[in-house]
Amino acid sequence: MKVLVHSSAELAQQSVCDVLTARILAHPASVIGLATGGTMEAVYDKLILSITRKAVPVRELLTFNLDEYWGLAPNHPASYRSYMNARLFDPAGIPRERTFLPVADAVEPDAESEAYEQRIREAGGIDLQLLGIGQNGHIGFNEPTSSLASRTRLKTLTESTRKANRQYFGDDEETPKYAITMGIGTILDARECLLLATGESKAEAVSRMIEGPLGAHCPASALQLHPKATVVLDADAASELKLREYYQHVHPDGIDRQPTHG
Ligand code: PGA
Repeated sequence: MKVLVHSSAELAQQSVCDVLTARILAHPASVIGLATGGTMEAVYDKLILSITRKAVPVRELLTFNLDEYWGLAPNHPASYRSYMNARLFDPAGIPRERTFLPVADAVEPDAESEAYEQRIREAGGIDLQLLGIGQNGHIGFNEPTSSLASRTRLKTLTESTRKANRQYFGDDEETPKYAITMGIGTILDARECLLLATGESKAEAVSRMIEGPLGAHCPASALQLHPKATVVLDADAASELKLREYYQHVHPDGIDRQPTHG
């Protein structure tokens, strides 16, 4: 696992934006896995700027989001479809018909989950999967005790996840109890994974993901099995890492350079 620690959240977000920009410039027909949540808001703001300024071609992209709340209409303001349309797809000019999220008001969650896996397979698999991490160590909505081999399916959200996402729902609304999420096995199938975590509230989950034992109690620890996983952190999110000096030694200030002789 490559661990890149930046001195600020801003630098960490910019470096994720730069990786995405470079990837799309080099391969405009990439299949990109996307994430939502507060962490990604600044990344998408920067990405829109970058796409506009550098005339990055986005019309051939295919995107697959990690998850969607079950039972929420796609046009609900707190749905991840609404989030993605407003925060990235529309302002960046990515054609909506080339963007996929699980259809969470589908009648049959199992059929929709299988259809989502099938759509990803037909696209040739995901080239680069963007990820956040929950305070409980989840990736996507794979809550603790999710099978490390799981595929896209309906998951029951933990109370801590519902509490963290309460802010996005109105006073008279209930926070959803379920979501359709890519499984951990689905995420591990991506050719490359890129996880961003910022802020002290993520420090414990980050240390369990990177340095803790591999296990279902911390779903993100499954990334230890991935041959090409990069974790981008700010100093606060990295604050509980024991091997921080080593990460700094390998990639000073989070800069991802190949070693040279001499
Ligand atoms: P956050 O969510 O970016 O809103 O903290 C991340 C996640 O739960 O995966």
